[in-house]
Amino acid sequence: MFIASKTAFNVYSKFNTLRKYPEIAPLFPTKLHAYYDQTERNLSRFGRLMNSDEITEKVKIGGVQDGKSLKNHWNAAWISYMLQLDDWLLKGDLHHIIFRKLALQRAIHARLMNAHATIKQLVILGSGLDHLGWLFSDKCTSFELDIEPMISYKMKLLPTLNQKVHLIDFDAMNDSLEQSLTLDSAFNSSEACLFITEGFIDYIPRKNLQSLLSQIKRLHPENEWISTHFDRSLLSSKQRFFFELGVQITGEQLQTNLTKEHIISIGCNNGFVLVHEWAGLPELLDKQTIPINSKLNAIEKKVLNRKNMNGCTIMHFK
Ligand SMILES: C[S@@+](CC[C@H](N)C(=O)[O-])C[C@H]1O[C@@H](n2cnc3c(N)ncnc32)[C@H](O)[C@@H]1O
Repeated sequence: MFIASKTAFNVYSKFNTLRKYPEIAPLFPTKLHAYYDQTERNLSRFGRLMNSDEITEKVKIGGVQDGKSLKNHWNAAWISYMLQLDDWLLKGDLHHIIFRKLALQRAIHARLMNAHATIKQLVILGSGLDHLGWLFSDKCTSFELDIEPMISYKMKLLPTLNQKVHLIDFDAMNDSLEQSLTLDSAFNSSEACLFITEGFIDYIPRKNLQSLLSQIKRLHPENEWISTHFDRSLLSSKQRFFFELGVQITGEQLQTNLTKEHIISIGCNNGFVLVHEWAGLPELLDKQTIPINSKLNAIEKKVLNRKNMNGCTIMHFK
């Protein structure tokens, strides 16, 4: 199957590989593992780098064991070298992938499940192959928006997703967000939404980002927005070179680098106030989830002990 967004596939495959490591798997709920187990089964055999079939079950019973979750030694070594190379080129990238997936999952859960929750709908822009719509589809009405080839790809990859998540074909450069959402009969304009832009705003020109934010606030004044932000000017020159080269190779186009102050100011001009931000994994780990250092293998150490990449944060705006 042809995939339109290589950057989306890159995030998917890195996270899908990392989430199976024994000390990382329990950080995520079984429903999330079930999503990746199912999508992986539908991808080519080449993509099936590690045995996933039992991860969901193993996580449920707390029995993911080192080595045994790897399909074979050759794959295990090869994957580990690839991941270590990735982390050498882009120091902190492995930490960053797990950090951002965990932070978003926790933050969305907190916004939807608190006793005074006003948020009734979840809208994910540039959703790629991500699991968020699926994960929260039994808690609220979920919408995933992306360019048409990505939406079709996702429907083929996981046909059952279609019954739970409202997948909308939307091009942020050309389409009106308000129109695309309100044309979907499941969308309720009188209820507040939480909008997610994970790994998305780097690909949208500033004027389109401004337009998206003004439409989000126009749709409902209580709409909230959570976004990842990546300030490339804070990366080391080696990291920046390899990150930009990587995106260039995919054929996708990064837009002008926006600093955190730029994003806060664009948000503010469109009625958004920054209420919280997260910068790294340690602030998300509690007593139950803090890993025991002596049990960590080389990759887990890079994920759990290394610092996040410079300039990467997650921001929550109301
Ligand atoms: C780096 S991927 C991130 C995917 C996903 N949010 C994640 O973090 O796993 C960027 C996503 O933005 C989507 N995208 C890029 N330009 C877009 C546009 N103009 N309109 C809608 N989606 C777009 C791509 O198709 C891709 O799925």
